[in-house]
Amino acid sequence: MVKFKLDNRFMFFMSLVVGNWKMNFGIGESVRLVQEIVDKLNSKNEVAVCPPFVSLSAVADVVKGSIELGAQNIYQEESGAFTGEVSASMVKEVGCKYVIIGHSERRKYFDEDEFLNMKLQLAMKHSLVPIFCVGEGLEERSVGKQNDIVEGQLIKGLEGLKFTHEELVIAYEPVWAIGTGKTASANEAEEMHAFIRKVLKDNGFDSKVKLLYGGSVKPGNSIELMSQKNIDGSLVGGAALNAKDFLSIIN
Ligand code: PGA
Repeated sequence: MVKFKLDNRFMFFMSLVVGNWKMNFGIGESVRLVQEIVDKLNSKNEVAVCPPFVSLSAVADVVKGSIELGAQNIYQEESGAFTGEVSASMVKEVGCKYVIIGHSERRKYFDEDEFLNMKLQLAMKHSLVPIFCVGEGLEERSVGKQNDIVEGQLIKGLEGLKFTHEELVIAYEPVWAIGTGKTASANEAEEMHAFIRKVLKDNGFDSKVKLLYGGSVKPGNSIELMSQKNIDGSLVGGAALNAKDFLSIIN
């Protein structure tokens, strides 16, 4: 979708649609899915897929620059005795442009909050573009604390970092909307995205970074969400596992 946006001046704007495959698909299924996406893609929007680590190399061979590749995580150290972990330089070498940092599932199951600033620093050092995820839980929203939570996550994660708007993407993913079928309304999402830009600006960061919405994005709700002024694209989980749905969101 090409969106006509009014910022300081009129401009055409390309959305970014990212598929987060989570822990789904080994090499065979990954290659089949990405091949179908590449074959049927008919859009000027930027598209990226984030398969599991073991499938990255095979998917890189298929996409060959037609769509971008992202990793779902990196470790917070450069290299060394960290059995089972994968480094920023490794995912860069395999061909990734993007890396998801701070997904709520990693914050929750792997207690990653303390390491996200280090991960962001390392990603940027290796010229990866982090897709930094922030978002409040249901309880926090029900007592009106969503802005405080998201602001806290942004300030803690981005502390000391220097970046231009091309070197970072932020994804707002309300935890209560991930994988639940519940989506933030377009108004709720737009309000939070505008707030995120304000927090970036107030803290001296480049506020023109792309802001993605994530959380039960589907073909049926993506147009309304993506047409909001401050929503520059989407981070898609479940619907990215199916070529037809993912292509419909992209196109
Ligand atoms: P969902 O996942 O689209 O399945 O809600 C989004 C995400 O976790 O990034």
